[in-house]
Amino acid sequence: MHKASPISPLDLSVSKLLRTYLWPRNSLGIRATVFFSLFLIFASKICGIWVPLFYRQAVNELSLHPTQFSYLVLVALAAYGLTRVLAIGFLEAKDFLFARVEQRAVRLVSLRVFEHLNHLSLRFHLDRQTGSVTRSLEKGSRAIETFLKFSTFTIIPLFVELALVLGTVMYLYGGLLTLMIASVVVIYTVYTLKVTQWRSVFVREKSQQDIRCNHRAVESLLNYETVKYFGNEKLELKRFGEAQTAYERAAVKDKKGLAILNGGQGLIVSLGLVGTLCFMGTKIMEGQMTIGDLVLVNVYFAQLYQPLNMLGWAYREIKRSLMEMQEMLTLLGAPVEISDGSNSKSLRAKDTTLVFQNVSFAYNEDRPILKDISFEVPAHHKVAIVGSSGSGKSTLAKLIFRFYDVTEGQITIGGENIRDVTQASLRKLIGVVPQDMVLFNESIAYNVGYGDPRASKKEIEWAIKSANLSSFIKQLPKGIETLVGERGLKISGGEKQRIAIARTLLKRPKIFLFDEATSSLDSKTEKNIQDNLNKISKKQTTILIAHRLSTVVDADQILVLDQGRIVERGTHEALLKQKGLYAQMWARQHKKKT
Ligand SMILES: Nc1ncnc2c1ncn2[C@@H]1O[C@H](COP(=O)(O)OP(=O)(O)O)[C@@H](O)[C@H]1O
Ligand SMILES: [Mg+2]
Repeated sequence: MHKASPISPLDLSVSKLLRTYLWPRNSLGIRATVFFSLFLIFASKICGIWVPLFYRQAVNELSLHPTQFSYLVLVALAAYGLTRVLAIGFLEAKDFLFARVEQRAVRLVSLRVFEHLNHLSLRFHLDRQTGSVTRSLEKGSRAIETFLKFSTFTIIPLFVELALVLGTVMYLYGGLLTLMIASVVVIYTVYTLKVTQWRSVFVREKSQQDIRCNHRAVESLLNYETVKYFGNEKLELKRFGEAQTAYERAAVKDKKGLAILNGGQGLIVSLGLVGTLCFMGTKIMEGQMTIGDLVLVNVYFAQLYQPLNMLGWAYREIKRSLMEMQEMLTLLGAPVEISDGSNSKSLRAKDTTLVFQNVSFAYNEDRPILKDISFEVPAHHKVAIVGSSGSGKSTLAKLIFRFYDVTEGQITIGGENIRDVTQASLRKLIGVVPQDMVLFNESIAYNVGYGDPRASKKEIEWAIKSANLSSFIKQLPKGIETLVGERGLKISGGEKQRIAIARTLLKRPKIFLFDEATSSLDSKTEKNIQDNLNKISKKQTTILIAHRLSTVVDADQILVLDQGRIVERGTHEALLKQKGLYAQMWARQHKKKT
C-alpha cells in the first residue's frame, strides 16, 4: 500500500547525509571549500606547535645571557608573535570559509524535510503532535551544525594537535617524556569518556524534564479559557510545580555530575603536569635541559588542556547530534501513504461528474466508517448529504479530496479514477470549505487571498462581498488588514466560516464541497450567502453537507447517511413523502424553529 516517496529516493544513513552535503558531486566549489578548510586546520595547528618553540628560544637566550643584547631574542619573540597570529588567523579563516558550507547543509536539509512533511498523509499528521514533528526537524538540522562544529572544531584539531605535540616532544626530548605526556592524555581521555557515559543518564533525564515542564506550561496556557471555566488554576500550578520539582532534581544531579567530571579532569592534568615538570626539573639540575624546555612543555600542556577539556562535551554533543540526525532521517523515511503513481496523468476534467461506486472506507481496519456507498453527482448538479453527527459525512468529503484512499470500490471524476490522476490536478479542481477550518494568524486579506495567491485586489473584494463579509469588515478599524489571531480565534465562528468561504470562492474550483460551511451562521446571513453561493456555484458541480435541512431543500438530490450507509435518497419532496428518517429530521427541525 505504501508507495515510495515522490521526492528522489531517500537514503537513511547519517554518513550518506553528511556526504551528500559536505562532499556534493555536483559542486566543485563546496568540495574545494571543505578541503581548504581542513587544510587551514592543519596549518593553524602547525603554527600553534611553533609558538612555544620560539618562546623557548627567547627564554633560553634570556636565561643564559640575561644582560647581553641579542638580536636572536627579538627575532624569536617576533616569530613567536607571528606564529601566534597565524595560528589564530588560520582557524578563523576556516570558520569564515566553512560557515557557508555548514549553513548551506542546514538549509538544504531543512527544506528537504519540510517538503517531505508536506507530502506525508493527513493520517501521519493527525497521529503526531505537530510540535514534536517541527522539533525533530529543527533539532535535526541544528544537529548537523553541532556535529560539524564538534567534529571539525574539536575532535579533528585535537588529534592533529596531539600528534604534533607528541611528535615534537619525541623529537626534542625522546621517548620517556613523550610517554609521560601521552599517558596523561590517555588517562584523561578514558576518565572523561567513562564519566561522560555515566553522566549521560542525568543529562537525558534533565532534558526530558525540561521538555515536560515546557509542555505543561504551554498546554495550560493554550487552554487558558478552559482553566478559567473550571477554576483550576491551583491544579495547573500543582501540575507545573511537580514537573518543575522533577526538573530541579534532575538538574542538581546533572550539575553534581559535571562537578565530578571537571574536578577529576583537573586533578589528572595537574598531577600529570606536576610529575612531568618535576622530572624536567631534575633534568635541568643535571644540566640536560634548559629553563626554556620547562616553559615549552608547560605551554604545550596548557595548549592541549583546552581542547581536552572540551572532549567530554564534544563527545556527548556528537553522540546527541548523531541521534537527532537519525531521528530526523527516520522522519524523512516515513512512508508516504497517498502518492502519485509514476504514470499518473493530470485530471482532464472536462466533465466534472462525480461518481462513488460501492465505496467502503475505514480509518482503522477494526472499525468500518463508510459502507458500500454509491451515488452520482452529474456535472453542474447539486447533491446534498445529510445525516446525524458521526454518520460519516466529513469522511466522505475527505475521500473525494483524497486525503485517504478508499478501502473498497472507487471514486471517479469525469470517468477517471481519482487514484490514477495526480493529486495536484485533483485538488486544484475541488474547492473545499471544511467543517472545522483553521485560519492562518495573518490578516483577513492574507487568509482570503490564500485561495489564489495571485488574485488581484479586486478579485479579493469580490470574494469578500460574495461571502457576505463586507459589512463585518467595514466595522473593523483596520479593515481587511485585521489579524485573525492564532487559528482564527480572535473572530467569531461565523466570521471565520465566511472567510473560509471567500477564500474557496477565490480558488474558482469546478467542484464545490461545502462541509457544514454555514453551520455557525444565523439564518438570515446563511440565506444571504446561500443565495450568493447558488449564483456562483450554479454552473458548478456542488456537494453540500449540511446539518440544517432548510439549506438543502433545492438540491437535485439529497442523500441521507446513517451509520455509514445511504439509507434514503431523493429530492426534498420525495423524501418528505417517504416519511422516513429525513421526514423525521425535517419535522424535528421544523418544530424547533416555531
Ligand atoms: N482521523 C480519524 N481516525 C479515526 N476515526 C475517525 C477519524 N476522523 C473521524 N473518525 C470517526 O469517523 C466517524 C465519522 O466521522 P465524520 O465523517 O467526521 O462524521 P460527520 O461529519 O458525519 O459528523 C466518527 O465516528 C469519527 O469518530
Ligand atoms: Mg462532519
